[in-house]
Amino acid sequence: MAGLWGGRFTKETDDEVFAFNESLSFDYRLLNKDIEGSIAHAVMLEKQHILTLTEKDDIVRGLTQIKADVESGALDFTGGYEDVHSFVEAKLTERIGEAGKKLHTGRSRNDQVALDMKLYVRDEIVEIDDRLLELQKTLIDIIENNLDTYMPGFTHMQKAQPVTVAHHMSAYMEMFIRDRDRLKDIYKRMNYSPLGSGALAGTTYTLDREYVASMLGFEGATRNSMDSVSDRDYVIELMSALSTIMMHLSRFSEEIITWNSNEYRFIEIDDAYSTGSSIMPQKKNPDIAELVRGKTGRVYGALTSILTVMKGIPLAYNKDMQEDKEMTFDAIDTVKDCIHLFNGMLATIKFNKDVMAVSAMKGFTNATDAADYLVKKGVPFRDAHGIIGRLVLYCIDNDKAIEDCSIEELQNISDVFGSDIYDEVSLRTCVDKRLTKGGPSPARIKENITFYKEYIDNSARLDQMVSIPKK
Ligand code: ARG
Repeated sequence: MAGLWGGRFTKETDDEVFAFNESLSFDYRLLNKDIEGSIAHAVMLEKQHILTLTEKDDIVRGLTQIKADVESGALDFTGGYEDVHSFVEAKLTERIGEAGKKLHTGRSRNDQVALDMKLYVRDEIVEIDDRLLELQKTLIDIIENNLDTYMPGFTHMQKAQPVTVAHHMSAYMEMFIRDRDRLKDIYKRMNYSPLGSGALAGTTYTLDREYVASMLGFEGATRNSMDSVSDRDYVIELMSALSTIMMHLSRFSEEIITWNSNEYRFIEIDDAYSTGSSIMPQKKNPDIAELVRGKTGRVYGALTSILTVMKGIPLAYNKDMQEDKEMTFDAIDTVKDCIHLFNGMLATIKFNKDVMAVSAMKGFTNATDAADYLVKKGVPFRDAHGIIGRLVLYCIDNDKAIEDCSIEELQNISDVFGSDIYDEVSLRTCVDKRLTKGGPSPARIKENITFYKEYIDNSARLDQMVSIPKK
């Protein structure tokens, strides 16, 4: 078993201990980042006259080759090494000899792994943000095409007031805007390089930390070496942001599942995004939405896990922190897949506009508007509420909607009703007149569409928006 120590030890590590301790089996994710960080470190060491030009060139060439060979399959990412850092150093030394042993000058695996994880997470934040942008583009299409697709809005799962599909979808647009804002905040806050913090107390070599930081696209170098090697706040923040994204997708999935049911039939999920039953020929199941809803649990699990791992760790690095990786990787993969597949499903959904409109008309969603009609005719709102309550009861008993009642029936309940009531409680009027900022009126939604389109057009890749130019 290849170790990084030796001098102090008289025995080999026990096999079971090694297996329990190793991280190579999941560190492969960090290989490219480890090499990127090592190259920057070597270039800086040469600039500071700690390495010779030849040594630096050999190291850079060797590292570049290792990366290419692992990618092509010529070099196996295995072989009894404890972690990615020992793997790379051993392979480098095998290939270039003595200079390979100098790469670790002024560095510890503690600042090295802190750097690798930051570089990895930073890239993934950009990826996730990109996928959310794609989802927002799908949403804007749906919003634009459904300005007057009426549907019931619900509270307590009871039909409440009429809205439109555009209005409903815009609510999710807002959630994803906030999600992307959160990612941007995390990116900005975490974008400082820990390299050069050493094991915990810096180093006596004349390292140029700011130089390394700028080579790696960081805003600068971190201020405190003990914090640098033991900070995983950005992982916690990301897991929290991802949990919120999943919570949004899960609520959205729940609605899609409900709307796709035989009872609602508001929408139809495309065959390509549905599955059948092995026994019931009539079934077309919304598995993708159900899986997105279900996978929310594992992302919440990752958040709980990292919070718990970190809560008892004294300064500075402790091996507990190796547990920051597997669940973080899994959560990132899960969220990327969920956004992508959800987006495909959403883009191909068919809205049953007639069914939605009938449902909106059938559930007394215009009862508030009928009361408002009476208020406009001089009836105090509380009295109007009572009159419409009696009217709804009458309608339920007679199995009809408010607008199905004859003027005589209406006037039997209140003589304030005139024939202009019918237009006032039509779906179109109910929606068009809801003109308050944020309301469902197409006039308002169109203003939001202008805003959303500008927002989408200005959505540069996150790394270009918030970091200093690379190299
Ligand atoms: N695999 C370790 C981790 O993920 C790398 C750092 C090891 N440092 C150490 N002092 N043992 O945290």
